[in-house]
Amino acid sequence: MCGIAGYVGYRNASDVLIDCLKRLEYRGYDSAGIAVANKKLSIFKATGEIDSLRENMPKMHGSAGIGHTRWATHGKVSKENAHPHISCDKKIAIVHNGIIENFKYLKEQLEGKGHQFNSETDSEVIAHLIEEEYKGNLEDAVASAIKNLRGAYAIVAISIDEPEKIVAVRKESPLVVGAGDGENFVASDIPAFLGYTNRVIHPNDGEICIMEKDSIKFINEKGKELNKEEEVVNWDIEDAEKSGYRHFMLKEIHEQPSTIYNALTGRISEIEPHVELEDLESDMDEITITACGTSFYAGMVGKYIIEKLARIPVSVELSSEYRYFGRKSGTVVAITQSGETADTIGAVKEAKRNGCNTIAITNVTGSSITRITDFSIFTRCGPEIGVAATKTFTAQIAVLFLIALKLGMENFYLRGDELREYVSALRQLPSRLEKVLGKEDEIAGIAKKLKDYDSIFFIGRGVNYPLALEGALKLKEISYIHSEGFAAGELKHGPFALLDEKTAVVAIVAKDAVRDKMLSNIGEIKARNATVIAIADESDEEIDKYADHVIRFPSLPEFVSSIPIAVILQLIAYHVANLRGCPIDKPRNLAKSVTVE
Ligand code: G6P
Repeated sequence: MCGIAGYVGYRNASDVLIDCLKRLEYRGYDSAGIAVANKKLSIFKATGEIDSLRENMPKMHGSAGIGHTRWATHGKVSKENAHPHISCDKKIAIVHNGIIENFKYLKEQLEGKGHQFNSETDSEVIAHLIEEEYKGNLEDAVASAIKNLRGAYAIVAISIDEPEKIVAVRKESPLVVGAGDGENFVASDIPAFLGYTNRVIHPNDGEICIMEKDSIKFINEKGKELNKEEEVVNWDIEDAEKSGYRHFMLKEIHEQPSTIYNALTGRISEIEPHVELEDLESDMDEITITACGTSFYAGMVGKYIIEKLARIPVSVELSSEYRYFGRKSGTVVAITQSGETADTIGAVKEAKRNGCNTIAITNVTGSSITRITDFSIFTRCGPEIGVAATKTFTAQIAVLFLIALKLGMENFYLRGDELREYVSALRQLPSRLEKVLGKEDEIAGIAKKLKDYDSIFFIGRGVNYPLALEGALKLKEISYIHSEGFAAGELKHGPFALLDEKTAVVAIVAKDAVRDKMLSNIGEIKARNATVIAIADESDEEIDKYADHVIRFPSLPEFVSSIPIAVILQLIAYHVANLRGCPIDKPRNLAKSVTVE
């Protein structure tokens, strides 16, 4: 996730852009840059936060420009990889947010035509493509260039030959236009320019926006002019950073259709079913996953998927235990959102000392874990601000899924048709998640019934067992209700003693081999007067007879449904905590990243 901005007007563009980027910093901040058009294109880029760009930047003159704050996905954090990227003739500059899936192919084609590249990014192809198409009119060149792009993008472009104009376009990446008086703005998100104007216009996919200081024009891909309505937003800056959501946690829950898309994009292909995960080696005899907290539960989900699809034995160890007591052999996969958790880093160092091959799954490029593991895979979620992990948990599961598919495929355990079915189901996840998020009011209604219980248990079997553990962790973290997750078959071995009418049980019921056993468990719980909320497959017609309330998730192949189920569990925790008036984004006694042992 990156942040982009563009400005054209009567002020100094670089000052405005720095201001906009600062407000977009929550989208990523490993490096940043600005290009301003005057007599020539002046460009300045720097690694680090926006403040480092501001402090080191020379005075840049010009009243039209573009800016970018980066959260690396393709290519390391470096000045070369920071945006803006420019054409060979140094006349055109672009900033981009998204992922260009076919950039390798385009880069080869463009190199064949003599273009020279200066970065490892997917984005740089856009500058060269526009240069290739440029015949004196930037919007026409952008319209022709995007016809070649596959993937997701929000792009803002500027050309020194038309220095008072900026051109922007989006497809499946956020972009919003701000209309001012004698000045206009474009950015990834409204907070970027809210200090200047609250009049906004939302471009749809494929619509090209041409802005000068006194005009905003929209055309479609065929060049036809469009009429677009302005909207006035009445948010203050703090509300706007949460995109109008009450808490960052809720905003991050709602980002999951796009974070899952980002985690998968460019890594799976449906045409020739295929999984590409950077240079992941496939010769693994045994895998140990090590992590803490929510990342640990993602690791447990991963164990079920990898063992089934790739048939490689996986053990999952809490980093604080593994570090001192674990068996250190084979491949060690460390999962850590922040990349800074002291226990996880300690565990990896210990594994390395014992000669293990080490891999990190993390959300933060350049974090400590990426500097010590042999290889890193990024979850590409953008910064997560709520202390309770949400979007990074589901992206970790998505990445583990990709590892399972890749290993299963390369070790010949996964048949072509099975791979095709999983790839196609993963591709559908963003739209399925939209559907789940559409049930928010229903889930908030159920939260009302749960909010006064003394104890809430979460149960599941198979891959739904770690999801039950995560559901309970999420709820206790932010609502302070005592909650615990159990493997459903274990209730009778102890926890039954706690069941009575003051206990509620959330039961995850998939249409899998253990469904009947889950139904029996629910019967046993009901016999002890506890309330049962079932999270069940939408095609399960019988479940209403067993549970007091049912929340349905979309029917998907085994394991793929774990992601929609996780989103339902997050919404339950969020709404219970919200009804109890808890400080959701900053729960008492907890920290987002624990850098001490
Ligand atoms: C802290 C956070 C948890 C998180 C855990 C592991 O305890 O409060 O939400 O799951 O650390 O964090 P990591 O960054 O390593 O995933």
